Amino acid sequence: MSTGVEVEHGRGDWQTYGDLSNYQQGKYQIKTFNKVSPVGLARFHADQYDVRTGEDEAANAHAILLRSHKLQEDDVPNTVRAIARCGAGTNNIPVPRMTELGIPVFNTPGANANAVKELVLCAMLLGSRKIVDGINHMKDLGSQGLARERVEKDKAMFGGQEIKGKTLAVIGLGHIGAMTARDAEGLGMNVKGYDPGLSVQSAMKLPRDMQLVDSITTAVSGADYISINIPYVKGEGGTHGIIGKDVVSHFSPNAVLMNFARGELVDSDAMKEFLDSGDGKYISDFPEDLLWDHKNTIILPHLGASTEEAEDAAASMAADTIRNYLENGTIKNSVNFPDTNLEDRPKETVRFTVVNKNVPGALAAITDAISSEGLNIVQQINHSRGDIAYNVCDIDTTKHDGVVEFKNVQEKITMVEGVISTRIIYGKAGTGYAKNIEGEYFI
Ligand SMILES: NC(=O)c1ccc[n+]([C@@H]2O[C@H](COP(=O)([O-])OP(=O)(O)OC[C@H]3O[C@@H](n4cnc5c(N)ncnc54)[C@H](O)[C@@H]3O)[C@@H](O)[C@H]2O)c1
Repeated sequence: MSTGVEVEHGRGDWQTYGDLSNYQQGKYQIKTFNKVSPVGLARFHADQYDVRTGEDEAANAHAILLRSHKLQEDDVPNTVRAIARCGAGTNNIPVPRMTELGIPVFNTPGANANAVKELVLCAMLLGSRKIVDGINHMKDLGSQGLARERVEKDKAMFGGQEIKGKTLAVIGLGHIGAMTARDAEGLGMNVKGYDPGLSVQSAMKLPRDMQLVDSITTAVSGADYISINIPYVKGEGGTHGIIGKDVVSHFSPNAVLMNFARGELVDSDAMKEFLDSGDGKYISDFPEDLLWDHKNTIILPHLGASTEEAEDAAASMAADTIRNYLENGTIKNSVNFPDTNLEDRPKETVRFTVVNKNVPGALAAITDAISSEGLNIVQQINHSRGDIAYNVCDIDTTKHDGVVEFKNVQEKITMVEGVISTRIIYGKAGTGYAKNIEGEYFI
């Protein structure tokens, strides 16, 4: 939305950075690392975005999109306002350092949930019929020229059960667990679940008839299938080895445990003892030294999220998140900044966003700087998370159509003690960003 106000940057004596010959006026420059799905990149419309992939030079990148690239501080020029990871984990990004630099880091929770859920359902079917053994057997027979002769005779060796009417316990009812519970009910299963931190969004996705219980042991007791879908958290109170001797002792003798969350959640010794003692099964997409070739396990490569759709969904979500931040200042799904969403910018306003250290007095100093120029705040939001605070305010531009007032106020705000960076969002891509780098004003 244009306001008629031009806030062009590049005032002669102000310091600037980046390679201006590398910059397309009026466009946000996006730098990608790794091969990011073209479906996701298509979200960046060419009229407003200049997407640089691979080795393309991107000295003025305004945002970075990546998958597993191990990001170094040198990869992040001063022009970068935001970083998004296509995926859930962000341990390839130096997040604490990015926080110090005032850069939000985003991820894409739940984008791969459908892919993982489908593999959990597949695992449940693999665990109910001797499908893998049957495939291997037919290959053996085929290599001896006996497949046609024995295809009927040998089927008795590979009988199984149906999952309809059986009980599934789901441990962790987040993105993956909630979808698994819902679809399992659709397949005619009885579903029970345990999640002490169940979110409202996930609760709304759960099947109506599912039973919520208040401990892992109650969930697994009497279950035919168990799906674990919780994060791995190291240390005291964490989830390392949470499926240990005590929990396993409540398993039914034929229970099938499906672990598509993390290998470390399951205590291998306890699981091996369980598998040795009966017909229970363990199915996972994580390696396991003790269990991988046990007759009652099926171990797959780490395939949970490996679908084209999951990659497209993660890249699309990452691109939308970046766009929403660059174009509107909105923060959603950040791992280091607070969720912040101010209503749409009204006509006849410009939007100021301010990233500052979460220290007393900063907000008052920012609003003072605005009012000292005679400007009126129409709407405002201020949120903090740990050491960082983020403000978004819309300022009335009626009676203020001169550039200078806005540039002056931006400089004033940016130089407030504790402020790291500011932006003026007024409808022109790629401009309006200023930083306070150790007491010096950079635009
Ligand atoms: N196999 C794969 O390729 C693959 C892909 C994606 C995710 N994952 C794994 O799956 C896990 C779940 O993913 P998600 O997207 O559903 O995550 P999520 O954050 O949406 O949900 C996790 C849920 O687990 C609950 N939880 C945490 N600790 C618990 C505990 N001790 N007992 C019961 N519930 C607990 C949380 O409250 C939350 O609701 C991830 O942490 C990740 O490790 C694996």
